[in-house]
Amino acid sequence: MTTFWSTWICVLTIGSLIGLTWLLIGTRRGETKGSTDQTMGHSFDGIEEYDNPLPQWWFMLFAATLVFAVGYLVLYPGLGNWKGILPGYENGWTGVHEWEKEMNKADAKFGPIFAKFAAMPVEEVAKDPQALKMGGRLFASNCSVCHGSDAKGAFGFPNLADSNWRWGGDAEMIKTTIMGGRMAAMPAWGEILGDAGVKNVAAYVRHELAGLPLPEGSTADLHAGQQAFSTTCVACHGANGKGTEAMGAPNLTQPAGFIYGTSLAQLEQTIRHGRQGHMPAQNELLGNDKVQLLAAYVYSLSQSLSTERLQAEGKSE
Ligand code: HEC
Ligand code: HEC
Repeated sequence: MTTFWSTWICVLTIGSLIGLTWLLIGTRRGETKGSTDQTMGHSFDGIEEYDNPLPQWWFMLFAATLVFAVGYLVLYPGLGNWKGILPGYENGWTGVHEWEKEMNKADAKFGPIFAKFAAMPVEEVAKDPQALKMGGRLFASNCSVCHGSDAKGAFGFPNLADSNWRWGGDAEMIKTTIMGGRMAAMPAWGEILGDAGVKNVAAYVRHELAGLPLPEGSTADLHAGQQAFSTTCVACHGANGKGTEAMGAPNLTQPAGFIYGTSLAQLEQTIRHGRQGHMPAQNELLGNDKVQLLAAYVYSLSQSLSTERLQAEGKSE
């Protein structure tokens, strides 16, 4: 703040305090002692005002607020460039400084714990209950807006608790995804394939790859759909439609992993206009140590699921 504005604020603030003190004392001096029957002489709709002094408690309260104000302005930064005599406000008071102080305290407390987990492989961290608890909290505050509090995803946001992965589900891959973020690019095919072409290839994806039924009386040409797929889609989704993790091109034979819907209308929409799913990078926001815990947490979700599944399969055999 420039000296001019600093002085301006000081003059205004101190001036108001002096003015208010003068008002308080000045009005008290001319007051009658004790209560009287005299009125002030004016009347509003028949309501009159007695000429009585201010109640004692009110006067004391007012005086106390003035004393508080002076004390506060001496201790804390409040008057222009004055920094207050309390330690810790050398840089002035802002919410950011308070937050930084809290963060430094938290870092001092949790730093060693984070460092311990950061030095372990993600798979090992995923077996530690304390790490999973911390990871779960980080997930709730940083990821659940998009992936849901149960990590099961929503339209456009993948389920992280199942075994379908667009970018790879091993522990290190999950960490890479969270650290660097991901940009998926499914091109738009509407203009290239034309309306009938889009319909045919959508029917092919739904029926032949995803294994879902077509509506009765469907006129889609599955053979033409297959032709289109093997010329335009294989480059990313692979010859058998199983996807390519390096590009985030999903496995089209696992409809449970689709994030843009499996109905013909939704498939046509995806193929006609393309999709650009964006997972924001967390390396700058959260840093390696927190992402380590998050990766372990996310990894553990899919692992416990596959353990359950293995057990279920074991039982059914
Ligand atoms: C350049 C690579 C590329 C080509 C070529 C490509 N895709 Fe894709 N496709 C992707 C990527 C990447 C995604 C994931 C988009 C996202 O997550 O936002 C995707 C997503 C999809 C989805 C949505 C799956 C879901 O999760 O809901 C469908 C369906 C699909 N593609 C079908 C096709 C068909 C049919 C063709 C051929 C006409 C095709 N793709 C060609 C890269 C490609
Ligand atoms: C702004 C919304 C958003 C937030 C916040 C977000 N994500 Fe994502 N995430 C996405 C989208 C969208 C995708 C899918 C990208 C694609 O289309 O391939 C994704 C993909 C992922 C994947 C890859 C899934 C796969 O199938 O390979 C992981 C892992 C992941 N997110 C973890 C996280 C974690 C952990 C956090 C919290 C730090 C987080 N995400 C926060 C939107 C978000």
